[in-house]
Amino acid sequence: MEAIPNNLSEFTINDGVLIYTGRPSVIVNLNSLRDGKLRLTTDVELKKLVQFLNNEPNPKDISSEDMAKWLKEGTIIKKSELSEDNSINPFFKLYREYLSTKCMNDLSFSLNQYHKEEVLPAFEQFDEEEITLSHVYREPHPALNNMSYGERLAMICHKKGILKNGMKILEVGGGTGILGNNFLNYIRKEMPDLYNSIEYTFLDLSPVLLDSQRRLNRSHKKIVRFLEGDIEGFDFAGDRFDLLISNEMIADLNVIKLKKVYLHGEEPPESLKDDVNLLKRLGLDFQDAFKNFLVNIGAIRFILKLDDLLDHGGRAIIVEYGEDNIYPCASVLKRHIEYSIHFGHVIQVIERIGLKVETMTAMEFLGFIPEVEVIDLWTFLGLREHLMPFFGKTLPYFSYIPDQLRKEIGDDFFNQIKGMKFRTLAEAKSPVNPQDFKVLFISKN
Ligand SMILES: C[S@@+](CC[C@H](N)C(=O)[O-])C[C@H]1O[C@@H](n2cnc3c(N)ncnc32)[C@H](O)[C@@H]1O
Repeated sequence: MEAIPNNLSEFTINDGVLIYTGRPSVIVNLNSLRDGKLRLTTDVELKKLVQFLNNEPNPKDISSEDMAKWLKEGTIIKKSELSEDNSINPFFKLYREYLSTKCMNDLSFSLNQYHKEEVLPAFEQFDEEEITLSHVYREPHPALNNMSYGERLAMICHKKGILKNGMKILEVGGGTGILGNNFLNYIRKEMPDLYNSIEYTFLDLSPVLLDSQRRLNRSHKKIVRFLEGDIEGFDFAGDRFDLLISNEMIADLNVIKLKKVYLHGEEPPESLKDDVNLLKRLGLDFQDAFKNFLVNIGAIRFILKLDDLLDHGGRAIIVEYGEDNIYPCASVLKRHIEYSIHFGHVIQVIERIGLKVETMTAMEFLGFIPEVEVIDLWTFLGLREHLMPFFGKTLPYFSYIPDQLRKEIGDDFFNQIKGMKFRTLAEAKSPVNPQDFKVLFISKN
């Protein structure tokens, strides 16, 4: 950290407003960044909303004037007033679902090309473009009992009796490779004999990320192998695995746009016929869908492969964000769009193919300690997006506790910033919250 300029008097970060009273003075209202909140005063019954949106909006029928105006304008979301309430209105969730369908012009959406060619250098990708939970807990963290995300995952697998001699592990979409590296570090330290007997395969569509996985896992070179390809179509030539890990990968898989009538007689376009037939065969329930809706077809096809990919007694751990009964919603990132998961459908498919599944949040599965205080999102953004750049500095994404932040930005700087907030994990106000992710823990007999 460079010396702090003399003219600095004090920074204050009030929730949402960052004030620097030196010269030049800086006042930034972070509320303008605050996406994803709807200024609704009343909740509307979900059923009523579906009905309303399916029958071409008539603004007079809407209980919220804002909603009517935004629908008419085709505007997505207006910024809310500052609110302590982090929970997103159910009305908003449906509205997002509805608009995601409207915004997707093509019948099917694939991120294939993006992953093959446009992914940024590994660390940048996960610090600038898509901030994953495993990325913000990549270092040992008090909330995980001073373990990193990957180590903790290995420990949980150990406790559940999953780790065994000679086992074959497949990680699909390993990102930077840090999770896999920490997972293997744990096994090497705690179970050196078992470590030497296992095989860990990384499969990824992105050559850039696969390179990073290779580099980071050099110390494990005797037991790792790397495959480049698309999990949706990859031919494993009969290979089976005892454990499959996929952390925040399935939201990157293909999505299709369907009309409800395709499931009730109307002929779908040629390009969708196979998918529609598959969905009909699976007997998934689309009763609660809008007239047009999205389906996580890639995630469903991936799940269908699990039976072949897992050996008897095998397990899969799939982590992703989404809702039990909200159809895929667009997450618009800087350079790509991905779609949240309709977990209800995914779970129905897992059960249809005779696998067992337990569902919980990542908070529960990994045993995050809810009392640990980590940096509040708005404090973090104030520092990262405004204060640090003002001094020509950067602040990597991380779920900082006060001491970690102090170490990262330096004592002097840390001491001069007033009003920084740290919140318990239980409050779910951090840059990336473990309660927002679901874990599917899948078992094959
Ligand atoms: C959001 S990143 C998550 C990375 C890492 N697991 C983490 O938690 O930070 C998604 C990963 O899945 C890979 N991926 C995306 N689509 C894929 C596909 N169809 N087949 C295989 N890998 C894919 C990406 O290249 C990337 O490594």
